[in-house]
Amino acid sequence: MSRLVLGVSGGIAAYKACLLLRRFTEAGHDVHVVPTANALEFVGATTWAALSGHPVTSSVFAEAESVNHVRLGREAELVVVAPATADLISRAATGRADDLLTNVLLTATCPVVLAPAMHTEMWLHPATQANVAVLRSRGVVVLNPADGRLTGADSGPGRLPEPEDIEASALAALAEPGIAAAMAGQDLAGLRVLVSAGGTREALDPVRFVGNSSSGLMGFAVARAAGQRGAEVTLVGANLSAEPPAGVRLLPVVSTADLAEAMLAEAAGADIVVMAAAPADFTPVNPSSRKLKKSGSSGLVVEFTQTTDVLAGLVANRPAGQVVVGFAAETAADEAELLSLGTSKLARKGCQLLVLNNVSGGAVFGSADNQVLLLGPEGQVGRAAGPKTSVAHAILDAVRTVIEGMPA
Ligand code: CTP
Repeated sequence: MSRLVLGVSGGIAAYKACLLLRRFTEAGHDVHVVPTANALEFVGATTWAALSGHPVTSSVFAEAESVNHVRLGREAELVVVAPATADLISRAATGRADDLLTNVLLTATCPVVLAPAMHTEMWLHPATQANVAVLRSRGVVVLNPADGRLTGADSGPGRLPEPEDIEASALAALAEPGIAAAMAGQDLAGLRVLVSAGGTREALDPVRFVGNSSSGLMGFAVARAAGQRGAEVTLVGANLSAEPPAGVRLLPVVSTADLAEAMLAEAAGADIVVMAAAPADFTPVNPSSRKLKKSGSSGLVVEFTQTTDVLAGLVANRPAGQVVVGFAAETAADEAELLSLGTSKLARKGCQLLVLNNVSGGAVFGSADNQVLLLGPEGQVGRAAGPKTSVAHAILDAVRTVIEGMPA
């Protein structure tokens, strides 16, 4: 359990911070909410107090006996501001201390994560962009906003990332100072990252398919982590049910053939390709164009044929300098067997990095956590365990090391 401060500034997206607060407290964290006076115009102090279990004020003069205006920031292990308006970002960048939240920001020595929400013009304005750059240069994580529907009829970059998206990036920043530094430093800016996620479906007839239990969460986490480190991210998503992470372009696909087509087309312009999807290895030879009837038959025999190996195609067409990352989910008795299976798969697939996990017992599918070994052609290059977003950052760190080792 960690001690968190959730700052809320005055934007309509303040209502979404209630859900974020709920997620933090349900994950076991002790959260103090510090709204600005304007935030209280949108969601009242009673809501924040009831949901957090702590008294709530925006004033530096309340609870003066405990020197609240410096205590909250000093004691915090993570400060998250959601939504962070253009005004709050400006006040934070210039070091103002005109309310309790800006006092917290000036006294906090822990990771600080700001989740911006504002109209597109305000986000793109050079004044806001300069403030964001100043904050990032000081190590503050300023999340990239989502691109989508804003308060009115307008749409564009500036939408608050979804609560689960903010939570995942914020907890990754809390877990590892290196992750916070990578997001603040936007260390993947200028790179194009292509990620696949989810499980493909092979049609038996118009209503039935053969699929697998991939949740898509690991690919989502890689897309989220890359986007928050400044990369331009495209996610080829096979049958995903959730909205893509903030700022990520989604290309939905269904079957392994669709996935292969989309990945090969998009990979031509990518610097990093991460094949986290679970494509079906087999597809029915003759899917029925009409619904198969059970009446009159006692069973069903279906002939399958192998699908395209997408990863092999990506490796075969890899432009110079591109890093291709494969995944291998193996059922191994122990780590030695896992490594040996991974080593031969890496050699067979020919990718630059293989993310290897042991799925004995099926614990990984749908879980928020993962535990992986990272393998390069020269052997094991790392390991990571924890929430999938933290594991995703470790994978991207390993990719950066591969890029740095490539001939210029
Ligand atoms: N993969 C792919 N195309 C397929 C099947 C798998 O691109 N038709 C990719 C996966 O996305 C993953 C990697 O290949 O990145 C390894 O997947 P895995 O199922 O472990 O590999 P297979 O080649 O199917 O190996 P196995 O012989 O263990 O089934």
